[in-house]
Amino acid sequence: MKKKLTISALAKMKADRNPISVITAYDYPSARLAEEAEIDVILVGDSLGNVVLGYDTTIPVTLDDMIHHARAVARGAQHTFIVADMPFMTYGVTIEHTLTNAARLMQQAGIQAVKLEGGAHIADHVRALVNAGIPVMGHIGLTPQAVHQLSGYKVQGKLEKDAKKLIEDARALQDAGAFAIVLELVTEEIAEYVSKELDVPTIGIGAGRGCDGQVLVFHDILQYDTPYVPKKMVKTYANIGATIKDAISQYVHDVKNNQFPAEEHVFHGDTATLESLYGASTQSAKLEGEE
Ligand code: KIV
Repeated sequence: MKKKLTISALAKMKADRNPISVITAYDYPSARLAEEAEIDVILVGDSLGNVVLGYDTTIPVTLDDMIHHARAVARGAQHTFIVADMPFMTYGVTIEHTLTNAARLMQQAGIQAVKLEGGAHIADHVRALVNAGIPVMGHIGLTPQAVHQLSGYKVQGKLEKDAKKLIEDARALQDAGAFAIVLELVTEEIAEYVSKELDVPTIGIGAGRGCDGQVLVFHDILQYDTPYVPKKMVKTYANIGATIKDAISQYVHDVKNNQFPAEEHVFHGDTATLESLYGASTQSAKLEGEE
């Protein structure tokens, strides 16, 4: 049986140069499938808002949304290390507020760690969580909860001052006790530099080949969306959206043309019951009519 990883096992993977595979999941079947495919870590991302709940950004996602979906993921992947995002404004205000919300997510969802977006400015919150026994994954670079502040979904770390800030943020998170750090939409050069500088693993998304692991969104690698919009940083491995749409179209066709249900899909009553309800002649007429 697959053994659930631990934060020390993830640190060892970095030391051994064994790349860490991470995928997002939001429900029971996606979690089961990811676990069966032997993923190292599942992230219940607040990308839930975009890919499952139909919002334009992750900002409307609530703590209750995250708990609801993370619980389903935890039921589906009982042998996989699961991290869940703390959504917009559920952390970073006061330490007490951060601790209370993280405790709810850990206890009610049954996950192993939380992920917070932001760098040095939330380091005190990361430290407080770690001191309370809650493992924290950091997330810097493009932080989607700050999309409006960042003026859109753009590659980060291109300017010298931004690159320096990213490096400072990564160090601050590591010093605060984060066990891993997601680098999103960062130039390959900066991501590689940060990964070499840090002792904790970096997990890249759109951050190139120098990270210690990679994370992608379930719906992106499977093209499980219509219309699917390709992204440069994503490799797609299947076109599930087209397969599902095609299957539903065939179902609609079959219903409209009386081709579903067919004989193999229906249940018949026993002869004695039918005779007592309709009489012997009606029953034989019915049976004859069926042939
Ligand atoms: O919410 C999410 O899916 C994420 C990944 C993109 C890292 O934070």
